[in-house]
Amino acid sequence: MCAPEYFAVEYAINPWMDVTTGVDVVLAVKQWDRLRDTLVGLGHEVHVLTPQAGLPDMVFAANGAFVVDGTVYGAQFKHEQRAAEAAAHRAFYQEHGWHFIAPSETNEGEGDFAYLPEAHGGLVLAGHGFRTELLAHAEAQEALGRPVVSLRLVDPRFYHLDVALASIDDGNVAYFPGAFSAASQRVLTQLFPDAVLADDEDALAFGLNLVSDGANVVLNSEATRLAGKLKAAGYTPVPVELAELKKGGGSVKCCIAELRP
Ligand code: ARG
Repeated sequence: MCAPEYFAVEYAINPWMDVTTGVDVVLAVKQWDRLRDTLVGLGHEVHVLTPQAGLPDMVFAANGAFVVDGTVYGAQFKHEQRAAEAAAHRAFYQEHGWHFIAPSETNEGEGDFAYLPEAHGGLVLAGHGFRTELLAHAEAQEALGRPVVSLRLVDPRFYHLDVALASIDDGNVAYFPGAFSAASQRVLTQLFPDAVLADDEDALAFGLNLVSDGANVVLNSEATRLAGKLKAAGYTPVPVELAELKKGGGSVKCCIAELRP
């Protein structure tokens, strides 16, 4: 995770960002602190990156890389404004002894990649259409040695996979069908017949931008119906308030890069 000390909306690279909206950094940091405390309280270990002035989106740590079984596939940001973030993530992984593979294709890390270790023997889901290039899906498959299933995102409000779909345990997902092309919806139905489906309102409240440890699902507090569906499916929803970061177009998952040793 990376604290939103320098968080701001200084440019607009997704439909959620409005440069005329002011950001309350003190509130953003407070809400982010609470998210981190929530994860620690659930027994998870949280490493933090040092935020850098001039990189207002660095709080969205999920975009910095994608890790599967100790191998890190690095990010290469689509937009110039975020390009420098990749080096900070790379340095973290290299300093901590992870096997780092540098990308040559545009991809935004866990923003567009998800890993399901127990789905069909270990499956990577990958989004394309707005940020990550299809060629990066192939590159990730070669880097990580896992089959990568490409899913086409069609609604600009869901510009990253992780705002439209999330793994809720090692083998299942929750998603909003309307964010995907008709063909990709069919692929998802085939792969995950028992998926939890979110409605558009909960999806637009960033409900799917969640993190789950297989039991506890930490999600945006506004996605109340999704929380109910997850509860009915046997999970424990843990709502957190992250309204300030929503101004940048992100929520819970965007703030967290998962480390998979
Ligand atoms: N403002 C950031 C961008 O548009 C938000 C990134 C959200 N991160 C995510 N993993 N969805 O790049």
